[in-house]
Amino acid sequence: MEKYDIHIVGMGNLGTAFLSGLERLDLNIELFLYDDSSDVREIIKNNYLKDTYDSIPSIEDGVLILCMKPQNIISFFDNNKENIGNNVLVCSPVAGLEIGTIEQYLKNPILRIMPNLLIRNNSGFIPFSSNYEEDYISFIKNILNKLGTVKEFDESMFPIITAISGSGPAWFYELSKQIVNSGFELGLSEEESEMIIKNLVNALPSLLNDDETFNDLINKVKSPGGTTEAGLNSLDNNSFDKVIFEAMQKATQRSIEISKELSNE
Ligand SMILES: NC(=O)c1ccc[n+]([C@@H]2O[C@H](COP(=O)([O-])OP(=O)(O)OC[C@H]3O[C@@H](n4cnc5c(N)ncnc54)[C@H](OP(=O)(O)O)[C@@H]3O)[C@@H](O)[C@H]2O)c1
Repeated sequence: MEKYDIHIVGMGNLGTAFLSGLERLDLNIELFLYDDSSDVREIIKNNYLKDTYDSIPSIEDGVLILCMKPQNIISFFDNNKENIGNNVLVCSPVAGLEIGTIEQYLKNPILRIMPNLLIRNNSGFIPFSSNYEEDYISFIKNILNKLGTVKEFDESMFPIITAISGSGPAWFYELSKQIVNSGFELGLSEEESEMIIKNLVNALPSLLNDDETFNDLINKVKSPGGTTEAGLNSLDNNSFDKVIFEAMQKATQRSIEISKELSNE
């Protein structure tokens, strides 16, 4: 396999998830890390024994992964577009940042992705869309595929994918937090309740399979007149479906708003 130079700008949550995931791969990759915060550079040095630089040099080939917040991305393009050669594959996980907006600054192959943090363990879900036809420098086949499940989508689907998958871990953490709080309110200590739910969440992946829907799995847990049914009925009576739908709708809308804000900057 050819050698890949991979430059990651922004070493926060997602940048470090990429770093962890890529470091686990036994591939011919050279990593270059950047973050404008000296505190973050120090953390990376201590935790990963790697140097991180404050700004990118002139980059002529390889892959540039942009792991900055949406509010920082336009000034990054303004300040660095001259340093990014046209052969560089620009890979953007930035929520709301459309390929067309990046093209206003860079004439490069552009790969838009919306991974979740599970790329850290090479078990992420990585939806993508791009402005090129073939798998440029085989990055999807050779690298992205190894960080999780990769699937191409029309770019118009990105706002909803961002809501349900990019932000996805947070929905499950919030649900878990509420169950932990309930366990505490009902008599367990906070530590006991948290330990029980962390065990539960850890065990859940082994119960998932491709043949059964979530509804099938629910039916396996609940029995007529039982405890699960009592709780599910309460969720139903309190419009759990509506609460969740509205949250997904709000997150989707916010992604669309961010796209508009970025394309007008
Ligand atoms: N976290 C997720 O689960 C997730 C999932 C999918 C997509 N994303 C996308 O990934 C991006 C990063 O999210 P995050 O949660 O990792 O954010 P984060 O934890 O805030 O990390 C961003 C890092 O980038 C640094 N930075 C900002 N501007 C920079 C610049 N010009 N040059 C170098 N470093 C710079 C920030 O430093 P300062 O703090 O000093 O600004 C910060 O350390 C966002 O656009 C988000 O939409 C995140």
